[in-house]
Amino acid sequence: SMFRIAAIPADGVGAEVVEAGRAVLDAVTGPGIELSWTEFDWGCDYYARTGRMMAEDGLEQLAGFDAIYFGAVGWPTVPDHVSLWGLRLAVCQGFDQWANIRPVRFLPGVTSPLRKADDTELDWIVVRENSEGEYAGLGGRNLAARGRGSEVAVQSSLFTESGCERIMRFAFDLARGRERRRLTSVTKSNAQQYGMVLWDEVFERVAADYPDVETDSCLVDAMAARFVLRPEDLSVVVASNLHADILSDLGSALTGSLGTAASANLNPERRFPSMFEPVHGSAPDIAGQGVANPIGAIGSAALMLEHLGFPDEAARVNRAVETVTAAGVLPRDLGGTATTKDVTSAVIDALG
Ligand code: NAI
Ligand code: MG
Repeated sequence: SMFRIAAIPADGVGAEVVEAGRAVLDAVTGPGIELSWTEFDWGCDYYARTGRMMAEDGLEQLAGFDAIYFGAVGWPTVPDHVSLWGLRLAVCQGFDQWANIRPVRFLPGVTSPLRKADDTELDWIVVRENSEGEYAGLGGRNLAARGRGSEVAVQSSLFTESGCERIMRFAFDLARGRERRRLTSVTKSNAQQYGMVLWDEVFERVAADYPDVETDSCLVDAMAARFVLRPEDLSVVVASNLHADILSDLGSALTGSLGTAASANLNPERRFPSMFEPVHGSAPDIAGQGVANPIGAIGSAALMLEHLGFPDEAARVNRAVETVTAAGVLPRDLGGTATTKDVTSAVIDALG
């Protein structure tokens, strides 16, 4: 069958890693799974020309696609909050992609700052609440006071019972399908007595429907330490928008580099297209040099294949990446000398 994919490379290394991921996808698909690509030139260059990060009817243009394959957004010429909200968050929120999954994957042959880097038992997934929480965009600035040193800004978090419940059910379902049936909830209810207490209460209530899944709850600061010192018993970790944003970067750094981490922004009801993107940003410091690590984008392509209903092809891609890193074909951020193209063609060769 034919799937329509929207590619949005956007800024910096986004173009390089999206090209890499597309090459792998085109190599792993064929008769039976055909991908038809449409590329969109939205991003910070588009902003310079038009004053917008994406077309005014951008969401309508994207709505008919089966999936969106995204690079990264952000460039020093545009304030980061403008570029992020104008494109990436506009798509996430516009398409109600309320579940963001970010696997923390340890690759063979890659040195990790974690002592147990070669412990293949280490493997967990961060599930991020992707529609509300600290990134709900609620608040304002007292602009009248600007320049007088007395400005006040308010940035509120929004936690709804239904928003908490759906992300927790999603995380429990994911945990239930894994070998280690455990879900850990990340909280900060000792200090944040409204939203995070609601979060905890919903977690406990939903847990009652999943007696076969072990649960525990951990304060976010302690969780940061646990990621580093005692991650062995983690399987699925559910956290709010901000907490999961930070923890997933920490998780990816623990695997060796931000460049290897993949993610999926899902609209689980499939009313709207879901979006697949590496966790990293546009990396202006290395953009255009052909040395970006494409593994995060390639892993995101595998998540897209899974979402489209092709778990075997997704597994083939992930195995090929492991073959390549085990053989020592590593990009610069992982301590090697392979270029983006070297890694990409090695992965394609290893698809088997
Ligand atoms: P970043 O992820 O772009 O870079 C952080 C560090 O990791 C840099 O040293 C970079 O060279 C390195 N790095 C990132 N991806 C890499 C890759 N694929 N291969 C090798 N090295 C890689 O984060 P930073 O510097 O904080 O932000 C840069 C821009 O990206 C900003 O405009 C920011 O707003 C945007 N951003 C966008 C995101 C998105 O589109 N999802 C996520 C995070 C940041
Ligand atoms: Mg982040």
